[in-house]
Amino acid sequence: GVWLLPLCAAAYLLGSISSAILVCRLFGYPDPRTQGSSNPGATNVLRIGGKPAAALTLLGDVLKGTIPVAVAYGLGMNAFGAAMVGFCAFLGHLFPVFFQFRGGKGVATAFGLLFPLHWPSGLVAGAVWLVVFAVTRISSVASLSAFVAAPISLWFWLPAAFWPMVALTAIMVFRHRSNLAKLLSGEELGFRRKG
Ligand code: G3P
Repeated sequence: GVWLLPLCAAAYLLGSISSAILVCRLFGYPDPRTQGSSNPGATNVLRIGGKPAAALTLLGDVLKGTIPVAVAYGLGMNAFGAAMVGFCAFLGHLFPVFFQFRGGKGVATAFGLLFPLHWPSGLVAGAVWLVVFAVTRISSVASLSAFVAAPISLWFWLPAAFWPMVALTAIMVFRHRSNLAKLLSGEELGFRRKG
């Protein structure tokens, strides 16, 4: 009740801290919004920089979702409230107040909030991401598949969080419209198979 608005505001501010932009500054790489896919996220930092920078970006962006939802549950909030708090962190990542409102696509932050929200759904989404990435080697396809699976999983196991996750997935799909256009024209950037 009383915690919902302050936690949503705090989650939005935390989500607004772009790990990709900060990590690229730290490593001396260009702003990820000017290179590769122009997306400030772990996938594009892997293209621009390398694995250490990408791993740090991923960790930072995951924690932006995990911490607010864990705090929400810790304060006794219900699943709908916790999902709304996580959703605000996701919105912060997409529209960061500290970075001209030009943020990322929210995949890492969405994983970060889904695990504490409902860990079995986190495992489902994580497994879908890994299987689809193993088959396609395309991050966007794996991400979109995982977050179509997430609300379906919640529908069965945690219906209170279903609608917030539907909203998140819808915005995430819209945010991937450049990826979807490139997939249709065969220009989407995949990663080489190792070995
Ligand atoms: O994690 C974001 C991914 O789904 C797409 O990133 O850089 O390939 O547009 P990118």
